Parts: sequence; structure tokens; C-alpha cells
Amino acid sequence: MSDNPSILDERDLQLGRSHVTDTPELEAFYDQLAGHNAGAFWKRANAIEPWEPDSRYKPTLWRWAEMRALCLRAIALVRPEEAGRRVVTLLNDSPAGRENVAVCGWLFSGMQAMKPGEITPAHKHTASAHRFIMEGRGAYTVVDGHHITLGANDYVLTPNGCWHDHGVAPDGEVSIWQDGLDIPLMNCLEANFYAVYDQPAQTPAFPSNDLPLSYGGASVRPEGIGGWDKPYSPVMVYRWEATRDALHRLAQVSDGSPFDGHMVRYSNPLTGGWAMQTMGANMQMLRPGLHTRAHRHTGNVVYNVAGGRGYSVIGGRRFDWQEHDIFCVPAWTWHEHVNLDPENPAYLFSFNDFPVMEALGVRIEEPFAENGGHQPVTA
Ligand SMILES: [Fe+2]
Ligand SMILES: [Fe+2]
Repeated sequence: MSDNPSILDERDLQLGRSHVTDTPELEAFYDQLAGHNAGAFWKRANAIEPWEPDSRYKPTLWRWAEMRALCLRAIALVRPEEAGRRVVTLLNDSPAGRENVAVCGWLFSGMQAMKPGEITPAHKHTASAHRFIMEGRGAYTVVDGHHITLGANDYVLTPNGCWHDHGVAPDGEVSIWQDGLDIPLMNCLEANFYAVYDQPAQTPAFPSNDLPLSYGGASVRPEGIGGWDKPYSPVMVYRWEATRDALHRLAQVSDGSPFDGHMVRYSNPLTGGWAMQTMGANMQMLRPGLHTRAHRHTGNVVYNVAGGRGYSVIGGRRFDWQEHDIFCVPAWTWHEHVNLDPENPAYLFSFNDFPVMEALGVRIEEPFAENGGHQPVTA
């Protein structure tokens, strides 16, 4: 290692990398550049162009039992009319997570709990949002006038720019869901706008569940009702039962992915692509006893255990999980999953920033080659 802080490892000593030895004349030149809002690129080049991604975020796990209790405590302490959105934020266990209010990378996540009869006031933002329902009965959302009912393990969209409000029917039960948004990305891009609706809640303008009932049919699409011209999926909500059944049908004819087991994408049926432009989501099934091979890739992934028990090894650390625990895998971090139940499948919901990586042409993946595809567990 050199005294020069721009030399980060021995590979930086080769032609093509910065390995300037500073002199008094150069130090004076750096001062001169600073006086002109300028700098010497070679002083920072190695740091800002690492050999490979070096995430500022850490693998982090949130236990459902603990987080659920905190959500219920929030219900007792603050009303949604005051909070705007009564959300317990999931902060990545890193300075970057706390500073950017990020769950991992460019992603935000929180847990929202609502009592029967409560509403989250209507608003919209350029950040896209989606939700995974964990508990309750009678929850609903209204997105641009479309009323959508929500059940356990359903996945629902709130694409960017759509008016939305949520609530739980007066005869329902306390409902808790996980929110995922791309707030950190929108703030990084300096493209974040926010507006509140001129009424506390929208008046639904269509029959309840009109979009999933119109567009949610497997392999068929509606004719004669006018075209869908929005850049996001018209299905809006993806029901748990249909998603689970799709995984089981897939497992009848395929071994699935060595890295993810059997996995499906929540897709826009009109394009086959992701359901929204900036964030994607998947549901995967790990068959009983499965231990996947490790891989790593660009993009950040936040998991919610939809069912079962097991563990994941992330960056060499083992994280044990059970139903509705939440954990994250930062960009370019090795990860593999294990279903510890010898008789029942485990299900992992996850959301990610893969659509951004793909749009920018930087979705890159690598398998873990050594040790039969399994990381050494160091913690
Ligand atoms: Fe919102
Ligand atoms: Fe992965």
C-alpha cells in the first residue's frame, strides 16, 4: 500500500490507474486548482472508479415479531391524519442508510399499520411505490380512482404520479403492510415532487377491483374496453393465491434457477416487463430443504419472507429468517438461500431496482465459482 490515499490496492500501481507521487509543487498546484473550483482527477480517480461496486449498505434483517410490536405502538401514539403516513421506516444498518433514509441502495422501505376505519390521506409523488400485505383484513387502496382490496401476501402497485390513499374498512382488522419506494433514487436524481389531494380521500370512479378483474387473467387480455396507454402494469394488484399457484405449476416442469429456486416476476402482462418503470418485484419458492448456489449482481434487493423458515448467507454472514422477517441484499454482495423445512416450501417476496439497472445497461451478474457455489460462513 502506498502513502498516496488514491492508491487503494496493489492493482492501482499499474499503467491505466492513478499512482502519482505528490511533490511540493503538485501540492501547491492542488491548492491553485481548488481556488478555481477545480481539482486534479488523478487524486480521486481510483476512489470514484473502484474496480468493482463497493456498496455503502450492509445486509440488515428486521424481525417481524419486533417490528410488528413497534408498528402497533405507533398506532397507539400517532394518528395518520397528523403523521400524513404513519410508517415505521426501515433504515439500513449503515451511515448511508440513516443519511439517505434508505433500506438498501436507492430503495426506501417502511411498515405501515392501520386500524379499521382509518385512512391515509390522498396524495401523490414522483417516487413510485408498491406494497406487500403482511397481516389484516379489510385493507384497501385507491389508485387514480381505482379501488383495490388487499389481502395477505398480495402485492399492489402505486406507480409514480398516481393519486393514492389507503385505508381499512370499518369492519376490518388491524392491517400491516410493507411499503417499498424509490425515494432515495428520486432524491438523487433531484426529481422528487409531492402533492396532496384536495379531499381527504378519493371517490372511487370505477367498480371495485376493476383493473385486476380486467387485466389479471392468465394468458388472456381484455378486448373492447379501450386501450391501456400507461407505462406501468394495468393489473395493479397481484393476488397471493394466483402467484403461489403459478410457482407450483412452474415446479411441475422445471428445476428453477440454481440461485433462486422457482421464481416468478410480477410483470406487466402487456409487455412481459417489470410492472413499474423503476422498481421490480418477484416471488420465489424454495422447495423443502433447498440450498441455492450463491451469486451476486448489481441492483439492490429487499426480501419479505412470505412463508416458511430458513436462512440466507449474505456477504458471508448467516441471517436466519421466518415468516414476514425482512432483510436486504446490497448491490454486488454474494447471497444464497436455504429452506430449513424438510417438508414444506418457503416463499420469499422481494423487490428491487433492477428496472433501473436494465434501463441503464448495467444489470451485471456473477455466480460464486468456488466451494460448490457456497460461501464460507464467517459470521
Ligand atoms: Fe404515497
Ligand atoms: Fe440474487
